[in-house]
Amino acid sequence: MNNIKGIASTNNLESYWMPFTSNKTFKSNPRMLVSAEGMYYTSSDGRKILDGVAGLWCVNAGHCRKNIVKAVQDQVAEMDYSMAFGMGHPSQFELASRLTALMPNDLDHVFFANSGSEAVDTSLKIAIAYHRLNGEASRTRLIGREKGYHGVGFGGISVGGIVNNRKFFGPLLAGTDHLPATYDLSKNAFTKGQPDWGMHWADELEKIINLHDFSTVAAVIVEPVAGSAGVIVPPKGYLKRLREICDKYGILLIFDEVITGFGRLGKPFATEYFDVVPDLITSAKGLTNGTVPMSAVFVKNKIYDCFMNSSTEGAIEFFHGYTYSGHPLACAAGLATLDTYKEEGLFDRVASIESYWEDAAHSLKGCKHVKDIRNLGLIAGIELETRSGKLGARAAEVFSKCYDEGVIVRVTGDTIALSPPLIIEKSHIDIIFETIKKALQGVD
Ligand SMILES: Cc1ncc(COP(=O)(O)O)c(C=O)c1O
Repeated sequence: MNNIKGIASTNNLESYWMPFTSNKTFKSNPRMLVSAEGMYYTSSDGRKILDGVAGLWCVNAGHCRKNIVKAVQDQVAEMDYSMAFGMGHPSQFELASRLTALMPNDLDHVFFANSGSEAVDTSLKIAIAYHRLNGEASRTRLIGREKGYHGVGFGGISVGGIVNNRKFFGPLLAGTDHLPATYDLSKNAFTKGQPDWGMHWADELEKIINLHDFSTVAAVIVEPVAGSAGVIVPPKGYLKRLREICDKYGILLIFDEVITGFGRLGKPFATEYFDVVPDLITSAKGLTNGTVPMSAVFVKNKIYDCFMNSSTEGAIEFFHGYTYSGHPLACAAGLATLDTYKEEGLFDRVASIESYWEDAAHSLKGCKHVKDIRNLGLIAGIELETRSGKLGARAAEVFSKCYDEGVIVRVTGDTIALSPPLIIEKSHIDIIFETIKKALQGVD
C-alpha cells in the first residue's frame, strides 16, 4: 500500500522488480513520473522536472510530440500487429528506405529488433554468420572494449567491458577479447571535445589480432562515444585507425550507435560525424523518439548480398528475428520521428547549440569534487572524485539533490552523464548546470 498521488491505493511497490535500480532505495523513497511534455516531466507530487537525459538518451525530439503520438494512435486503431515472419506491412519498407537514406556509402539494408541489446546481439550474429557464408568459418572471435556498454544480452555483455554487468553471469560467450578503454585523466582531463592524445590505443587492436591470428577474428565492436561508462570521447584519429586495422585483416567493424544515432552529435549518425564508415551500425532509442521500443542493425551491401546469394531459392537466408521485428506501432513512431527531426532541423540544431553546451559544462571546472569534464555534441560527462571505497555514492547524492531541485541527471559510477533532448534551449542548459553546481556544493 502507498499514498503516492496517481498510483492506485492497492498498488504494491514490491511486485515490480525494477531494472538497473536499487529497488530497496527506490521503494523506501519512490520517485514517480506521471506525465511528460517537451523538455519536462511532471512528477507524482505535481512538480515540473527538467529532463537532462532525454529519457534514457532516447527522447531526442522531446516528450509527447503530438505528431508522433497521433501516428501511433492512428496505427494501433488500423492494424495493431502484423505477422513478422513471412509477411510484411508497407510501413516497414518505408521506414527501412528512409533510414538507410541517412546512412553513408553502401549501408543500404536494415534489420529490425526491439532494443539496443537485441540490435547488438543481432549484429554479432550477422558478423559471425557472414564470415561462415563467405568461406571463412574460423572467424568467430569478437573484440569489444573495456568500459564498453552494448546492452545486456549474453553477446552484449561478453563484448562489453563493464565489470558489474559481467561478473555475475558465468563464463559468458567464448572467444571474446577487449581493447583498452580510451581513458587516461593524467593526459586528457578537462578536454573540450575530442582529446588530441590517445590515438595509439587503436594500435592495441593489432596486438590482439596477432595474439589470436586474424583468421579467427570476426568483428570489432565499439561505441563511437562510450556513454554508459561515463561519457568517454574517442581521441582524434582513433576510430579511423580502428577502421584501417580492420580493413587490413578482413575484420568487420561494428559501431554501436544506440546513443550516438539520430542527431546526438549534430549529424544523423556518428559515422558521418567522425567520417569513418563501419560495416554494421546498431541503433535504437532515438529511432522512435523513445515512444515505442525498436532497434535497427544497418549492414553494408556486401554483407546483405552474401546472405542473399548463399542460400537456395525459397530458403530462409538468416535464421534470426523477433515476433516484434518491424512492429507496426514502432514503424509508425519511427516514420513520424524522422518527420519531426527533418521538419525541425534538429540535427543541425545540435551543431548550433553545442558550443554553448560545452562552455556551460566546462564552467563546472573548479567546483567541489569535480575531477574531469568531457563533452561532444549534446553529451557531457562530469566525473567526480570517488569517496573512499564508495564508488557512486557521491554522484547518487548529486542525482537526488538535482531531482529535488527539479532536474533529472543520470549517474554512472561517479560520473554525471547528460544527454538532453535536442530541442533544448539555452535557458534549459543554464538551469541544468546551475542546478548541478548547487548540488555539488551541498554534497560532502
Ligand atoms: C551503446 C549502447 N548499446 C546498447 C544499449 C542497450 O540498449 P537497450 O537498453 O535498449 O537494450 C545501450 C543502452 O543504453 C547503449 O548505450
